[in-house]
Amino acid sequence: MGSLRVASLFTGCGGMDMGIAGGFTFLGKHYRKNPVNFVFANDFEKTACEIFSANFDHSILCGDIKKVNTSEIPDHDILLGGFPCQSFSIVAQNPPRLGYNSETGKLFFEMVRILKGKKPMCFVAENVKGILSADKGRTFRLILDEFNKAGYSVDYRLLNSADFGVPQRRERVFIIGFRKDLGITPTFPKNTLKEQTPLRTVLMPHGAVDKKYYFSQKAVLGMLRAKEKMNKGRAQDEDLPCATVTAHLAKYSLNSVDPVLPVGRKYRRFTPREVARIQSFPDSFKLVNSENRQYRALGNAVPPVLMWHVSKNIVDLLLKIKKGRGKIIEPMVVH
Ligand SMILES: C[S@@+](CC[C@H](N)C(=O)[O-])C[C@H]1O[C@@H](n2cnc3c(N)ncnc32)[C@H](O)[C@@H]1O
Repeated sequence: MGSLRVASLFTGCGGMDMGIAGGFTFLGKHYRKNPVNFVFANDFEKTACEIFSANFDHSILCGDIKKVNTSEIPDHDILLGGFPCQSFSIVAQNPPRLGYNSETGKLFFEMVRILKGKKPMCFVAENVKGILSADKGRTFRLILDEFNKAGYSVDYRLLNSADFGVPQRRERVFIIGFRKDLGITPTFPKNTLKEQTPLRTVLMPHGAVDKKYYFSQKAVLGMLRAKEKMNKGRAQDEDLPCATVTAHLAKYSLNSVDPVLPVGRKYRRFTPREVARIQSFPDSFKLVNSENRQYRALGNAVPPVLMWHVSKNIVDLLLKIKKGRGKIIEPMVVH
């Protein structure tokens, strides 16, 4: 039947890539392998590229996407891109949300450039919830409009990873676009779960967790004096999915915004392996580099299990088209 060629932008440690590739097991459930073949991956953060390389056979170009010519990117059928979200993020309110006027906010234009130049059959973009409301919704309208003008029928959904078996409440916007000549309307996975997966399923036994992950009594007392009780939502209930883990974990402190775990009268942070599991990476995913870098790359990632659900229909549809016509459809010229 052949396989689908995938190019991945803003790849990070490869959450989206792992999700679309499938062929992994998480919490005893096997996620089917998809017939995909990666032809390009790119990120400009060396340490994220190193984590990626420890886990994938295909290479990653480590450098600024703005400096990569469209002609240097091989032809592909699916373009992936969790374009950087700092400027859209609700968490990053300081400085206030800047929308597409900021430099990082403009990086999605790189994705549009590559879509216009390479005309893959489909693309999948992912971003934070704040992208919907940034600049009173103008940013998001501009993004959809640009994808449309590039020749794609687009639609989007806000999906919560906890609705798909990930032990984390993480709401992210997925935009899917199909080249207009294919006549396909994007579809999104439906939540069919009976029960969400609680955090406790991915925690290490507390006794086995190194002391260095526990906050000192001094830090706890200082926090309690300042706030009397842990900010709402930060101290996690092991019987529920975890609150969102982000790249901010690299700066973990009791006074930040990251979820922490109460253990008796103590508090601890998650180990990098626990964060990987909270994000639905299988335990076979290798964690290399400093723990700080691991937290950062893992916190930035798209949960592989959620991406697997998002990709399943897309892969099946495109394979059918490919099989039906005997070859990849040549792109229509979009003016
Ligand atoms: C939200 S993360 C993407 C995570 C990835 N989609 C995943 O699932 O693991 C955004 C990534 O964009 C990368 N990035 C930011 N600006 C870039 C640029 N100009 N060129 C290449 N990569 C860039 C960052 O290093 C970061 O890893």
